[in-house]
Amino acid sequence: MKTGEAWKKLAFKERLFVKWMMERAERKEKASMNSRQRSFAVATMVFASIVLWLGTHPALGAEIPVPKDFSYEETKPLGPVPFSHKFHVTEKKLQCPECHVKPKLFEMKKLAASPQMKMANLNEGEFCGTCHNGTKAFATKDAKACARCHVKK
Ligand code: HEC
Ligand code: HEC
Ligand code: HEC
Repeated sequence: MKTGEAWKKLAFKERLFVKWMMERAERKEKASMNSRQRSFAVATMVFASIVLWLGTHPALGAEIPVPKDFSYEETKPLGPVPFSHKFHVTEKKLQCPECHVKPKLFEMKKLAASPQMKMANLNEGEFCGTCHNGTKAFATKDAKACARCHVKK
């Protein structure tokens, strides 16, 4: 039987019902389109703001001018300990936040931690000892490594 005939055979109420069902399905379809478009727009905006934010926060990359090298001098009787941002950041690809934010090992002020920095707490895993523990980098306790930090004057 053709659909036209089937349609005619439906009672008026049934036709209304089928029409209502079809309209409802159409409305649903439209609504889901809109929500898809909305979530796409939101995702695009989030992505764009991340890109913009990274653009204005180059400190997160390693492409910014890194501070000059300086030396820790409270090291008697051994020689002073130079610290090189250039080595750690440019060569070893460590990110600023790894030392200055999470965890906040150091202030952004040279030698600020010097008064609290002793070999004993470096050996306990504080300050430089967070990494210089024999796992991430050569250990402060290693007798062969003293001279890698404590250079001769
Ligand atoms: C491996 C650890 C480490 C990383 C990575 C690191 N820093 Fe530092 N930063 C230090 C230490 C140590 C000091 C001296 C703090 C102290 O002696 O208390 C310092 C000091 C500074 C200072 C002060 C320098 C001065 O001359 O007074 C600035 C500015 C700074 N850091 C910026 C940065 C920036 C920007 C980055 C990323 C490009 C970065 N640091 C990455 C360890 C690090
Ligand atoms: C990762 C680098 C590093 C290594 C490795 C290292 N030191 Fe040090 N040392 C430092 C720093 C930084 C200070 C603190 C300097 C400051 O506060 O001005 C320091 C301070 C000292 C001092 C001064 C007194 C004290 O206790 O703080 C002595 C002595 C010393 N170190 C001996 C050693 C000996 C011995 C070794 C090898 C077993 C060694 N260090 C290995 C970085 C290092
Ligand atoms: C976030 C981790 C981290 C921190 C914090 C850190 N270093 Fe290093 N450092 C490294 C890594 C990684 C290397 C290279 C690994 C190796 O050679 O074992 C390195 C290498 C070095 C070297 C050898 C450089 C060379 O030319 O071979 C010295 C010296 C040094 N660090 C000193 C320090 C001093 C002093 C501090 C504290 C003021 C410090 N580091 C804090 C990760 C760190």
